[in-house]
Amino acid sequence: MLRSAWARRAGLLDADTDCVRLLCEEEPPRGVAIDLFADVAVVQARAEVETAPLVAALLELGPVRTVYVRSVGVAGAEVPAAPAAGSPVERLEVVENGVRFLIEPASTSVGLFLDARDNRRRVRELASGRRVLNTFAHTCGFSVCAGLGGAVEVVSVDAARRYLDWGRANWALNPIDAAIEHVTLCDDVIAAVERAERNQRSYDLIILDPPTFGRSKRGRWQIKRDLGRLFRATVAVAAPQALVFLCTNHRGTSLSDLEAEFAAAASARPFEVVERPSLPLDFTASPGYAKSVWIRLGS
Ligand SMILES: C[S@@+](CC[C@H](N)C(=O)[O-])C[C@H]1O[C@@H](n2cnc3c(N)ncnc32)[C@H](O)[C@@H]1O
Repeated sequence: MLRSAWARRAGLLDADTDCVRLLCEEEPPRGVAIDLFADVAVVQARAEVETAPLVAALLELGPVRTVYVRSVGVAGAEVPAAPAAGSPVERLEVVENGVRFLIEPASTSVGLFLDARDNRRRVRELASGRRVLNTFAHTCGFSVCAGLGGAVEVVSVDAARRYLDWGRANWALNPIDAAIEHVTLCDDVIAAVERAERNQRSYDLIILDPPTFGRSKRGRWQIKRDLGRLFRATVAVAAPQALVFLCTNHRGTSLSDLEAEFAAAASARPFEVVERPSLPLDFTASPGYAKSVWIRLGS
């Protein structure tokens, strides 16, 4: 099974991209997701899955030298201190569509969500000449792409300083024009966007990729409760003709929920949906999983 999953993905790997989802949870044997980052495989398996044969099979694939296994249970993923096979790798550099990122295979977050690969490329294509606001920026993957795409200014907001430091390291790894300012704001997203509204700031490209739950020093984020408030503030800081990218992995929020919530927040401001991207080819389409939409606001 692993060999045929690998054969289906091999075409996605080349000199410009060395990270790919090797196996999705919905594919047989089910309950296991495997990401490949250069020569390091990160397995996320439900507790009942026996992973030893999987680890052995991964090592036979060719490129894999180190395998980390996370056991996923009701309380979330257990992060392994040591690899299940191979030498420990604290940090490694990967490349995606020619963009370089740092990965930490044994950290709580490895640092790059591979399902957003095509949308990161889209941000790069659309960023030229735009002022970009990246909320829930995490390790600044979208921000780095905006910088490479020629944004005039990039603001990354996240509640975790550690992720913003990592994001600055990702930025430094890439040949981004030194004239482009990358501002990292360690703050609650709603507080930061509402402050931008009070200060009459405006942006031409806004990225909203929130988690289901989150927390900052100022409070907790809950997608079901807080999306409307975030969208209202977003519309207020969106320049005429601004592009807004909305994305969620929350299974309880459908694409139409997302668009309806945005429409309610946009109120009288006209907007059009310009694209509803599908997931990259290495992710099997699964209703309810990552959904995204590009919106263009009117004047
Ligand atoms: C799933 S990640 C977002 C993925 C990200 N857009 C990317 O491109 O990798 C969620 C991020 O939201 C941040 N976060 C959670 N709650 C927050 C809040 N209330 N304000 C700011 N950031 C928050 C977390 O620190 C985390 O980095």
